[in-house]
Formats: sequence, C-alpha cells, structure tokens
Amino acid sequence: MKRVKVEASLTYDVLIEKGLLKNAGKLIKETASGETAIIVSDTNVFPIYGDFLSKELKNEGYNVLTFVFPAGEESKNTDTLVELWEFLAKNHVTRSDSLIALGGGVVGDLTGFAAATFLRGIKYIGIPTTLLSMVDSSVGGKTAVDLKGGKNLAGAFYQPSLVIIDPDTLKTLPENIFSDGMAEVIKYGMINLPDFLYDLSRDMDICDIIETCVKDKRDIVNLDEKDLGLRQLLNFGHTPAHGIEKLSEFTVSHGSAVAIGMMIMTKASIKTGLCSGTVLPVLENLLKKFSLPTELVFSAEEIAKTALNDKKRMGANITLVIPEDIGKCVLKNVPIESLYEFLSEAWKK
Ligand SMILES: NC(=O)c1ccc[n+]([C@@H]2O[C@H](COP(=O)([O-])OP(=O)(O)OC[C@H]3O[C@@H](n4cnc5c(N)ncnc54)[C@H](O)[C@@H]3O)[C@@H](O)[C@H]2O)c1
Ligand SMILES: [Zn+2]
Repeated sequence: MKRVKVEASLTYDVLIEKGLLKNAGKLIKETASGETAIIVSDTNVFPIYGDFLSKELKNEGYNVLTFVFPAGEESKNTDTLVELWEFLAKNHVTRSDSLIALGGGVVGDLTGFAAATFLRGIKYIGIPTTLLSMVDSSVGGKTAVDLKGGKNLAGAFYQPSLVIIDPDTLKTLPENIFSDGMAEVIKYGMINLPDFLYDLSRDMDICDIIETCVKDKRDIVNLDEKDLGLRQLLNFGHTPAHGIEKLSEFTVSHGSAVAIGMMIMTKASIKTGLCSGTVLPVLENLLKKFSLPTELVFSAEEIAKTALNDKKRMGANITLVIPEDIGKCVLKNVPIESLYEFLSEAWKK
C-alpha cells in the first residue's frame, strides 16, 4: 500500500492501493472513533459501491447512515447542503461522528463543506472514485458548493482526516470522465515533473500515477495552504479553461477545457518567447494519447472576456501560469488588459 502523508493544518494520510475498499472499514475505524458513520454519495456511485462500504463499516461496529443525492454538478449547491445538514441534525449526529465522502469531486466538495460547518466542524474521510478526485480534489482541503453567481463561491479550507484511494473503482468510470482526470494528471507533469511527463508517454501503473500527483499536490499545497501564491501553479491552463467552460455553457467538460487551456497557454508562451518550442509536441502528444482535445475553440477575445469575470482575479492584475520548459511552469503577474493580447498569440500562425 502506498501512503502519502499530508501535513497541513491537520496531518492525515492518503492511502492508495488496488482493492483497498475491502479494508475501508478497518482503516476508518483507526481514524474515526465515533459510533456513527454517515456515507454521503451520489446516485451513480452509491448503487455500485455503497452497500459494500456500508457492510464493511457495520462489521466494524458502526451505526451506518446514508445520504444519497442526484449525481452531477447541479447538485453541488446550497439546497443539497441544507438537506444534508438537516439530515445530520435529524439523526442526532454528534461531533465525534464522521462523514464519509464516497464519490467524485462533487461528493467530496459538498461533504467536506458540510463537515466543515456542521456543529462547527466534524471529521470527514474521503473515498474518491473518479481520477480527478483521486489526483486533485481529495487533497488540499478546499471544500465548496456552487452559488447561482458562480462555481465554488461558498466554501471553506477544511482538511479530511483520511483519504482512501482504491484505483479499482475507476473500472466503472465512463472513459470520457477518466480522460478528464488525465488532463489534471498531465497538468502536474507540465508544472514541475519533467520525468513524469516522459513516463506518462509510455505505460505507467495507475497507482504510481496517482501517488506522483498526490505527492506533487501535497508539496505545492504544503507551501501555500491558503492559495495565496505558489498554489496558483495548479491553475495552469485553468484561466482560459474557465472561459471555455462558460462559453460552451458547460457542454465542454472541465478536463477537455483544461486540455485546450494548456494548449493555449503553451502556444502563446512560445509565440511570445517565454517558452521553449519543444514543449508543444510533448503536451500535444500526451493529450492525444489520453483522448483529450488539442484544437483551439472560440476566440481569444471571447475567452479573455469571459475568463476575466472569474473570482480568482484579484485587483488590476492577473497571475498567469506560464510554461517555460518541459515540466516547468512559472507565475507571471500581468495587468488584466494584457490577457487578451497574450492569449491571442496562441491563434497566430
Ligand atoms: N476541492 C478541490 O480542490 C477541487 C479540485 C478540482 C475539482 N474540484 C471539483 O470537483 C468536481 C468535479 O469532480 P469530478 O470530475 O470527480 O465529477 P463528479 O463528482 O461529478 O463525477 C463525475 C461523474 O462520474 C460519476 N462517478 C464517479 N465515480 C464513479 C465510478 N467509480 N464509477 C462510475 N461512475 C462514477 C459521478 O456520479 C458523476 O456522474 C467539480 O465540482 C469541481 O469544482 C474540486
Ligand atoms: Zn481543474
């Protein structure tokens, strides 16, 4: 079993092993001493893994409650959050009990925020079941729900007590959702892991892929838990990606948008002399290998305009994540007016 220790405001382990769900009950028992375990999941994941996990927890003597909500980003909102709070209150959940997030990033973000706020904070344990949630959202302690005004606008920094990753659960994940997660995997390589990019272009064990990404995210988050500086590297490709997602009315998935966003940032950086030309074929081949799009969509003008409505924008400047070389990105603070000009370089022949 691989064990990645995260030392943030709370210290916890991320455990990775194929088949680990079988041991989830025991592992949870070592961390969560309460009487009740509340499984929070969605309508796609619970029918596949819910009963199994429930049995495991009962075997360890837990009283098990389940809260299952409709799958999809549309559920990551304050209505579901309030329903979950009320469910916990009705069942007299106490501060010694734990929530268990069984599902992708939607389940993880919502459960984490409920845990951060119910009774001013109870424990939660992550069992991520999408590649994206394994390599990204389950580590770092960002929890949130969406508001009508935008994604992830209400949330908290709140760390889980344990994260259990069983890559076998990816077997039931639709292929396009797996590819979405690969966009974030490739992103880690592009930020600061040149050797990993090379390994990815060959065949790599999924446990090794997940471990490398979790460690990298852990290291970046350790240096900057509250997302004020270095953590912004994790936004590589994400500024244009957010624009593309919105412009497509979310018909382009997050992973696909990130793939195109990374292409835009890389092409523009090469055109402006900030990046080595050798980076583009490496990125492009990897994206293609994992069935991700590489063709630019919409226009620089539309993307810049839409992206600038993003909450991550602070004041008169915007921080761009610029690739410089294979496996090396840097942050560059530029005036917001120059975003359009910069992005438009990517479309030039
Ligand atoms: N907290 C963070 O740091 C962070 C980072 C990145 C993304 N996020 C958030 O994560 C969310 C996206 O997460 P996601 O891509 O995991 O989406 P998701 O949770 O919606 O899962 C995608 C789909 O796959 C289904 N699914 C999940 N696991 C499955 C399995 N093993 N087998 C079959 N189906 C399965 C889900 O029911 C859903 O339909 C967004 O809300 C995003 O804002 C958070
Ligand atoms: Zn992302």
